[in-house]
Amino acid sequence: MVAMTSSEAVMQVFRGAAPFIKPDSKYSLGSFINYKKKSGENVGRLFKCSSMYRQFPAIPTIRFENFRSKRFESSSCKCQNAESVSGFTTENENGTWFVDNAKEFNTIQGQSPNLFGSEDVHKIKKENESSLSDGIEQEAWDLLRESIVTYCGSPIGTIAANDPTSSSVLNYDQVFIRDFIPSGIAFLLNEEYDIVRNFILHTLQLQSWEKTMDCHSPGQGLMPASFKVRTVPLEGDDTATEEVLDPDFGEAAIGRVAPVDSGLWWIILLRAYGKSSGDMSLVERIDVQTGIKMILKLCLADGFDMFPTLLVADGPCMIDRRMGIHGHPLEIQALFYSALMCAREMLAPEDGSADLIRALNNRLVALSFHIREYYWVDLKKLNEIYRYKTEEYSYDAVNKFNIYPDQIPPWLVEWMPNKGGYLIGNLQPAHMDFRFFSLGNFWSVVSSLVTVDQSNAILDLIDAKWADLVADMPFKICYPALEGQEWQIITGSDPKNTPWSYHNGGSWPTLLWQLTVACIKMDRPEIAARAVKIAEGRLAQDKWPEYYDTKWGRFIGKQSRLFQTWTIAGYLVSKLLLANPEKAKILMTDEDSEIVNAFSCMITSNPRKKRGPKNSQKTYIV
Ligand code: GLC
Repeated sequence: MVAMTSSEAVMQVFRGAAPFIKPDSKYSLGSFINYKKKSGENVGRLFKCSSMYRQFPAIPTIRFENFRSKRFESSSCKCQNAESVSGFTTENENGTWFVDNAKEFNTIQGQSPNLFGSEDVHKIKKENESSLSDGIEQEAWDLLRESIVTYCGSPIGTIAANDPTSSSVLNYDQVFIRDFIPSGIAFLLNEEYDIVRNFILHTLQLQSWEKTMDCHSPGQGLMPASFKVRTVPLEGDDTATEEVLDPDFGEAAIGRVAPVDSGLWWIILLRAYGKSSGDMSLVERIDVQTGIKMILKLCLADGFDMFPTLLVADGPCMIDRRMGIHGHPLEIQALFYSALMCAREMLAPEDGSADLIRALNNRLVALSFHIREYYWVDLKKLNEIYRYKTEEYSYDAVNKFNIYPDQIPPWLVEWMPNKGGYLIGNLQPAHMDFRFFSLGNFWSVVSSLVTVDQSNAILDLIDAKWADLVADMPFKICYPALEGQEWQIITGSDPKNTPWSYHNGGSWPTLLWQLTVACIKMDRPEIAARAVKIAEGRLAQDKWPEYYDTKWGRFIGKQSRLFQTWTIAGYLVSKLLLANPEKAKILMTDEDSEIVNAFSCMITSNPRKKRGPKNSQKTYIV
C-alpha cells in the first residue's frame, strides 16, 4: 500500500533523471553449441570457444601442481617471519591496534632490550612490520595470480580454492561469481581490467542458459553460482579437444540452492569496472544492457509479497546451506538495494525501459524505508519491542508484524551496547531474527541503504562488540551461533554448521574487504585497519584458510579449505583500499537528493499516515 501511494510522488521526483548511456551500441551474444554429455543422462548446452587446443588440456592442472610445491616453500619461510614479529593477534578491547612488540623484536635480534631507545625500537619495529606486510602482500598477489582460470587463452576468473591438502575438491575448483568479486576488485585496483571485462562478458553468456531442475526452469535473468572451464574431446575428432563453459545454477549445488546474489554482485562489479577503468563501452553494449534488465525484471517481478524486500529460499547467498535465513534475509536486501542503485546509474534511457526504471525507483524508496524502519534495532528500539502490544488488527498498528516481546532472546538483552545499533537478520510475520549478520550490515552502510546515523551506529556496535565479532580473527559471519535444539531444528543437525563453525558463527577473513569499504565510507578506516592487522598476523602463516572456528576464531575451520582465493583477495583489497581510500568509491553508492526527496514525498503523501502512531515519523532519520 505504501509503495502504491508513493509511486506518483516518486516518479515526479525522478522524472527527467538522465542516465548517461547512449543507446547506440551493437548487439552481440555469445555463440553456443549443443553438447551431449558423456554420461548420456543429461543434454546440456555448453559454450565453447572458437579456437581449439589440439590434445592440450586447457585447465592447467600440471601448472597448479608445480605452484603448489613452490607455494609451500615460500609460505613456510613467511611463516617464520610472521612468528618472529608476533603480537598482531593480541589486541586489547579498547582499540589499540598498533601492538607493542618491542620485546619480541629485541629477543629475536638477540639484543639486550636496553641497547635501543624507545624511538629507535619503534622505528625499527615499524620498518619490520611494513616489510613483513609487503612480503605477505606479495605472497597474496602470487597466489591470486595462480588461481586465475583461463578460457581460450584469456583470463576469465579465479578458482574458489587451490588447496593441495584437500582430499575432496567438491566444487571448489570452480569460478564462483560471489567469490570472484574481491578478486575482480583487486585486479581493478591494480589497473588490470581485462580479466574483469572477460568475466563480466562470459558470465553474461551463461545468463541465458536453459536451466531446469526436474522439468522446472527458474527465471531467465538468473546468473549461475559458479562455472567451470572443461576441456572436452571435440565432437567428431578424437584427436582434438575444445574448452567449454559449464555453469551451475544450483541444479548441482549441495541443497540445490539458487544463487540470488550472483546477478546482484554482477551488476555491482560491472559498475565498479566502468568507474575504475573509465571504459564505458562495456556497459553501453546492448547485450550488457539486456543482461542488467533481465536481472532487474527477475527481481522486480510482482508476486504475492506485501513487503518490498526480496523473498527467497534458504541459502541464496554467501550462506549457501540451511541456516534459517529463508524469507527476507538482510544480505540479499542490502545487495538488492546496491544493485538497484548501480543499475539506475547504468541503464540507458530508452522507451522500452520506462516501466522498468519506474519500478526500480519505487522499489528503492520503499526498500530503504522498510529496512531503516523495521530492521533497525538499538537499545531504544529494543525497549519499544519489549513493551509491544500484540494482536493489533488495524491500519495504525504499532506492532505491524505482530512480534511477541518474548521473542527477544536473552543474549540480546545483555549484548546490546548503550551506544550503537544494527540491522537484524530477517523479518517475517511474527518473527524477527535478531542475529547480527555481518555482510548485510556492512553492505547496507556501503550502499547507503541505511542513514548516516545508522551507519555510524553499526560501526559503534562493531567497536563495542569487538571481542565477539572480531576476537582472534575477523570477521564473524553472524553472531551468535545457533546451539542445542535450535541448531538441530534450524540447520537440520548440519555437521558442517556446528556452533561457532562455518556459517554458524564461524569467522571469515574474506569479510575484511567489505568491512573496509564500510569503514572508509564513514571515514573511520582505523576500525578496518585494526582488523586487518589482526588477520595479517595469521593468514599467510595459516595458509589463507576459508574460515576459522570457535567463539574466538582461534582454530582453522574444521572443514576449511586452505588457499581460499577470496580470503587472499579480500586481504589484498583491504590493504589496497586502506592505502588509497578514495578508490573505495567504485563500490559505494551515496544516497542522492532524489531519493531523499522521494522518501519524504512518500511519507507526506501516504493517506494512512494520519492513522499511524503520532511519533512514527521520528523513528528514522532521512
Ligand atoms: C562455500 C561458501 C560460499 C562460497 C563457496 C565457494 O559454499 O558457503 O559462500 O561461495 O564455498 O568458496
